[in-house]
Amino acid sequence: MDACAVNGFFAPAQRERYLAAISRRRSVRAYQGGPAVDQLSALNYAAARLALPGVRLVLAEAEEGALYRHLPFVEAIHGTRRYAAVISDESVPHSDILAGISGEALVLEATALGLGSCWVAAFKKSGADIALEEGEKLRAVIALGAPGEGGRPRKRKKLTEICSSDPASWPLWAYNAAECVRIAPSAVNLQPWRLSFAGRTLMLSCTRGSAPLDMGIAALHMTLGVGDKPHVLRWGEGKEIISLIAEDRL
Ligand SMILES: Cc1cc2nc3c(=O)[nH]c(=O)nc-3n(C[C@H](O)[C@H](O)[C@H](O)COP(=O)(O)O)c2cc1C
Repeated sequence: MDACAVNGFFAPAQRERYLAAISRRRSVRAYQGGPAVDQLSALNYAAARLALPGVRLVLAEAEEGALYRHLPFVEAIHGTRRYAAVISDESVPHSDILAGISGEALVLEATALGLGSCWVAAFKKSGADIALEEGEKLRAVIALGAPGEGGRPRKRKKLTEICSSDPASWPLWAYNAAECVRIAPSAVNLQPWRLSFAGRTLMLSCTRGSAPLDMGIAALHMTLGVGDKPHVLRWGEGKEIISLIAEDRL
């Protein structure tokens, strides 16, 4: 199994900052304006730094009403023009999963900066003014701005529903990683992931209806959830997306 480009990509302080942001993050659809100037320059810096191989994150602006499709039973996204485009290059292996990892890192950076965010797959391509290179695909956009009032409490499956055995019997690092996956965002809140544990390996697998972005987001939450326990990530095959192997040394 090939090693994943995420190994060693995030500095320890950055991992700590993003881990702390995981439990504070929620999807924000009502904004009271875009990011302030200093927040925007921090986001621009992060967008460049967080792009894994085959991924591009581009900050852009769209006219109100031009970008987001209105979904039934979901509040329309409004109050900010600013968004990040999440782009992957089809010629780079796993780039669509890596796009989920990089995009979610930007979401957690925004959370740490006090900003609201919302991943959006239901967007109008015509509303996104992004120049794409050959082989690149615009996978999703992420709304970014000053959070407004409202929002809904997080609804999630129980940990036992997404784990193949009782996570209470797993080592603490694996339990914490599973909990961080559990509260990750996913398209239509499908939570299309499964976790299994054996020996020193925590395996993230996909279920029916899962999209590569969702799996990338979950993979980032999984590696952050381990904390400072040394580990490596390796690509899996088929439904087995990524395995996290804890190293023996502490
Ligand atoms: C890849 C992806 C695509 C999403 N697309 C949309 C979307 O098109 N419109 C929307 O309102 N929310 C979208 N969401 C937000 C999810 O509905 C939200 O993450 C989920 O309901 C969980 O809620 P939470 O993020 O507040 O924890 C998307 C999330 C992800 C991860």
